[in-house]
Amino acid sequence: MVDIKNVLVLGAGLMGSGIAQVSMMAGYNVTLVDVEQRFVDKGVKGIEEGVKKLEAKGQLNAAEVLGKLKTSIDLASAVKNVDIVIEAVIEKMEVKKQVCKTVMANGPSHVIFASNTSTMSITEIGKDSGAPERACGMHFFNPVPLMRCIEVIRGASTSDSTFEIAMKVAESLPCLRGKRYIAPVLKDRPGFIVNRMNAPVQIYMGWVFDQAREKQIPWERIDADAGGKMPMGPCLLADYVGLDTMVHVMNYYKETLSSDFEPPKIVKDLVAAGNLGAKTGKGFYDWSKGREAIVEKTKKAEPAGMFDLVNTMAILLNEGCRILEEGVASGFKIIDDANMAGMNTPGPFGAGKNNWQEWSKLLEDLAKKTGKSYLKPCDLMKSGKFTEMRK
Ligand code: 3HC
Repeated sequence: MVDIKNVLVLGAGLMGSGIAQVSMMAGYNVTLVDVEQRFVDKGVKGIEEGVKKLEAKGQLNAAEVLGKLKTSIDLASAVKNVDIVIEAVIEKMEVKKQVCKTVMANGPSHVIFASNTSTMSITEIGKDSGAPERACGMHFFNPVPLMRCIEVIRGASTSDSTFEIAMKVAESLPCLRGKRYIAPVLKDRPGFIVNRMNAPVQIYMGWVFDQAREKQIPWERIDADAGGKMPMGPCLLADYVGLDTMVHVMNYYKETLSSDFEPPKIVKDLVAAGNLGAKTGKGFYDWSKGREAIVEKTKKAEPAGMFDLVNTMAILLNEGCRILEEGVASGFKIIDDANMAGMNTPGPFGAGKNNWQEWSKLLEDLAKKTGKSYLKPCDLMKSGKFTEMRK
């Protein structure tokens, strides 16, 4: 097996800079690459802040860790002596295919290309690269240093050695909040495990968002409906992940899973106005006073009674069953563990084992109420046979 020393992280945004930081902390030589120097500089600044925070806590030597970082705005030359490229560029297929091709054309004959795409086909990304057997997926969760989960995805042409090396590299990356959880994704399906399972919740959330807007109900009252049972309420989480990412991702599911994934009107309008959430300072919320101020506002708000967490658990269970039906994961324990490690939220199978009949009825009603047939329960959920598919 190739000895991985040199890692190139492509894309210096929120995810890329987090991936670069944990790769440096793991002892790899890291080259951070983006298309413009200002993007690279912003990424380096975020990494320096994170590493210096840990030095202040006596957890590492900042000069030693930062000494492992090089930067570039020229991918073709920067990839010359690299063992693995972790790509975290914009969620556009043609861009991902192009950079994969550039890496395979200019990198050493053993270089691996691992995409951090949230949803897109790994098989498609590597297809025309000249070396699809060395392309795979390595999907991280935001913020990378704090979220334990990494999904490693096999494309249709990914070789066993590529998959094994990617699993090993993923296991070697430290996390500030406990042991990394590496979820093997056995089939290249949209959204893999965690994002796929949470995807139809966005159909329900989108319906609630547009209803709330029509009735002019403040967003903090929708987040108050979560009653502090989610690490972040639906509006806050959408702003945190990025409303543009939400639209990109839902449009991809609209093409690959169902037209019911049409992004909600309010989110399209916010994105069209350039309000992408935390990263632009405005989305559902005004972020000028920081996240804590928004959380305080939600705590004081009266719940609107429009967003019900039981509905989301039922939707999660249904999609979890679809993931099992399609053979993306070998059993429901992996799905629950991956969701906890990727979203800091329990997966649905724990409670679902005892509630699937009631939740199936609930989904029939919800599909009628929202007009979204994709929310209807699948056969594996309605039969309850999933309860025998733990491993
Ligand atoms: N380096 C070093 N230290 C860091 C750091 C970094 N890069 N980032 C944060 N820290 C430190 C902070 O300084 C803080 O230190 P302190 O305890 O000494 O003050 C500590 O880590 C904890 O940071 P926070 O105070 O920000 O942490 P919270 O306890 O508020 O939790 C959270 C933050 C983990 C983000 C929590 O709110 C959460 O779980 N939110 C949900 C996030 C989620 O669902 N993510 C997944 C989104 S979906 C996704 O990513 C998929 C993709 O495809 C889109």
